[in-house]
Amino acid sequence: MQKKVLLLPGDGIGQEVVAAATEVMQAAAQQSGCNLEISEALIGGSAIDATGEPLPSATLAAAEQVDAVLLGGVGGPKWDDLPTHLRPEKGLLGLRQRLGLFANLRPALLSAPLASASSLKAELVADLDILIIRELTGGIYFGEPRGVEVRDNERVGFNTLVYSEHEIERIARVGFELAAKRNGKLCSVDKANVLEVSQLWREKVTALAPEYPSVELSHMYVDNAAMQLVRAPKQFDVIVTGNMFGDILSDVAAMLTGSLGMLPSASLAASGTGLYEPVHGTAPDIAGQDLANPLATILSVGMMFRYSLDLPEAADRIDNAVAKVLEQGHRTADIAAAGVDSVGCQAMGKLVLEQLVN
Ligand code: IPM
Ligand code: MG
Repeated sequence: MQKKVLLLPGDGIGQEVVAAATEVMQAAAQQSGCNLEISEALIGGSAIDATGEPLPSATLAAAEQVDAVLLGGVGGPKWDDLPTHLRPEKGLLGLRQRLGLFANLRPALLSAPLASASSLKAELVADLDILIIRELTGGIYFGEPRGVEVRDNERVGFNTLVYSEHEIERIARVGFELAAKRNGKLCSVDKANVLEVSQLWREKVTALAPEYPSVELSHMYVDNAAMQLVRAPKQFDVIVTGNMFGDILSDVAAMLTGSLGMLPSASLAASGTGLYEPVHGTAPDIAGQDLANPLATILSVGMMFRYSLDLPEAADRIDNAVAKVLEQGHRTADIAAAGVDSVGCQAMGKLVLEQLVN
């Protein structure tokens, strides 16, 4: 079997975590008799520095030709003052949009040895296993009109929160289908007490429920959902929500698991290339110091094997290797208890690799 993967390390710690995860990816592929053809391209700030653009056309063309993209992260203080259309984030947003990656899966799984790393009491998060499904190519991130203009002698900034019926329906179906394969509970998060777009969202999601009799559907306002996630997170199984609410709630869910450094994600289109990236950002403060946690990226590689490369057994082996390494007590600084020794990014990658091949 031959599969193609494009690496987009991007900025900051993206470089380090993608390097560590790539070794794990190659080993897992080899074990499954899969020949990986790996290429690399530029995105984000590093692409801006080299080409003037956050998403060079060569990168987009390369991404369209592979089975999966593994991305590190984009952005950093160096590029913060650029106009919106030239910021590193535009590279990632453009890639999501151009590849039609409307479904973003962000699992928040607490591995038992990390229960004490969570900011919540261990009993509230022990065995936590929730999946946030975030709509990724619509909503306020992409709505038009948008901009800043002068009205009545002052500047006004505006964006548009818009969802069409087909966008709501296709992401809701992903929610129902994945909930049916898990614990059968789907919670749709909106702001229907205030926003018309949320009222349409709720109406469309509700209308699909009869097609999925094994799934119990509930609805929650986003402010309440944020509160419930930190009050009693285990009440959730699958959450489906729009782009911006999902951005915010997935960071909350990530922290429940102890560290943003543990959370993988998959972004899927109706067909074609899938994109895999850690939920965390580029952490410019620790970039280049071998301090980053590569586990979110390694777990993203696991999701890649599961959802794009059709090798679920490789995904299981990666997940198990990560679990074993944590069980053995190895920690990067972000998940180490105070006073406990930690290992660097490269060493953590090697530990997972050794576990995988042994
Ligand atoms: C994320 C990030 C991105 C987003 C940024 C980097 C554009 O926060 O993937 O959650 O807002 O979607
Ligand atoms: Mg985010």
